Amino acid sequence: MERRKGVQLLVLFRLLSLAACLDRSHFPPSFLFGTSTSSYQIEGAYLEDNKSLSNWDVFTHIPGHIKDGSNGDIADDHYHRYMEDIELMHSLGVNSYRFSISWSRILPRGRFGGINPQGVAFYNKLIDALLLKGIQPFVTLNHYDIPQELEDRYGAWLSAQIQKDFGYFAEVCFEEFGDRVKYWTTFNEPNVMVKFGYGNGKYPPNHCSQPFGNCSSGDSSTEPYVAAHNVILSHATAVEVYKTKYQAKQGGSIGIVMATTWFEPLRDVPADRAAARRAQSFYVPWFLDPIIYGDYPPAMRQILGSRLPRFSTSDKKKLQHKSDFIGVNHYTSSYAKDCMFSPCEGGGSEGDASVLTTGERNGLAIGKPTAMPNFYVVPRGMEKIVMYIKKRYKNIPMFITENGYPQGSDHNTSVKDLLNDKDRVEYLRSYLSSLHKAMRQGADVRGYFVWSLIDNFEWLYGYTLRFGLYHVNYETQERTPKLSATWYQEFLEDSQVLI
Ligand code: NOJ
Repeated sequence: MERRKGVQLLVLFRLLSLAACLDRSHFPPSFLFGTSTSSYQIEGAYLEDNKSLSNWDVFTHIPGHIKDGSNGDIADDHYHRYMEDIELMHSLGVNSYRFSISWSRILPRGRFGGINPQGVAFYNKLIDALLLKGIQPFVTLNHYDIPQELEDRYGAWLSAQIQKDFGYFAEVCFEEFGDRVKYWTTFNEPNVMVKFGYGNGKYPPNHCSQPFGNCSSGDSSTEPYVAAHNVILSHATAVEVYKTKYQAKQGGSIGIVMATTWFEPLRDVPADRAAARRAQSFYVPWFLDPIIYGDYPPAMRQILGSRLPRFSTSDKKKLQHKSDFIGVNHYTSSYAKDCMFSPCEGGGSEGDASVLTTGERNGLAIGKPTAMPNFYVVPRGMEKIVMYIKKRYKNIPMFITENGYPQGSDHNTSVKDLLNDKDRVEYLRSYLSSLHKAMRQGADVRGYFVWSLIDNFEWLYGYTLRFGLYHVNYETQERTPKLSATWYQEFLEDSQVLI
């Protein structure tokens, strides 16, 4: 009896000390630890070296679209400062870097023009310099930005033509960079891209049916589903090209990155439990079920009927080329309340799923609020979402491709406060320990990337939110490590494994 108690105490002590001082050595030696960025958010140089205008260049230049009226014309000027930024990564001790390739730098006119050698040269220099420092490139082909010409010619994601364009772009990238890039992802957060582009009109091409701000046109009851369908088939096209022509000789792997939220039932009743499941189906399985199992989730088909496009026999054949892994971007969680059988004031942000999502229950927030709307600190959500994906997709390998913490920033915020980002350190520490719990239960997670290396252009919020481990002074472009950079460095220092 006494002995059993002793063993139990030992186990408890081990678990407590793990949570208190988790570090690099608690993760497998081959685990990737890195930082994430994306082309439009950091590169700047928006018209240099024959790059064409992207949809985001055009969108941000229209007054009223971005909170502080800013844009990514210069952003972090990473296009000219990439060597300095690689030095920052090197000093952190990361062994991987996730970035995206600007489609309009490589193919300024899509497949209607030639390959731009200067665009290719930039990414070649970046990739080579990373590898020299022992940092594995982890490359996203599309992180929201596309050549504007594809929008103007045929309506981009609303047209099946984009599958050809994306397939071509992907192949050019495999051909040019695939000898050195071993991790590819096709899309970043396509679930957010289509909801914001075609549902509420907050992202380009600014479509929605309920005029929001200066929404141009559109039909939010069908367009998000059509756009998603073309994204899924574009993904399948790129995967097919990679698997049939490049994978054997280049030896890399390919996946897709999803935005994830953990949904918890608002009330402990069957209706809200079903609502939480429905909200999830309309978020992650919307894309992953077709990509992994060949068709949309039954819950979506049941609710949407003919509004949800169907996969033809040839589409299904294409979808048979399986993705090697899933990229998981995870930040926050939300409560889900049923609106199918219960009255719901104010509708629901998961409209078609008849679910109201909210951050509060009986006046209590689901987690500590942050400077970003609807962003709460809920560490347990990391374990839950990873375990959900593990179960639904039969333990497919996963990478946490983004996790990070927003700081509000305006003219009144002092740099000293921004540098002393204790909240971010606590956030990263607690989410990593929650991730570790999922891994101890057998989840096949192979990497973790902090969003972001440096403060950058945060889409609708412009430069008013900062996610960086390094502070950026946008007047001088000076990068300064925050407390979180020092913390990450110490976390990784313990047993840095070179690859
Ligand atoms: C997800 C997106 O992929 C990234 O572009 C964005 O900056 C972060 N989340 C933070 O909101």
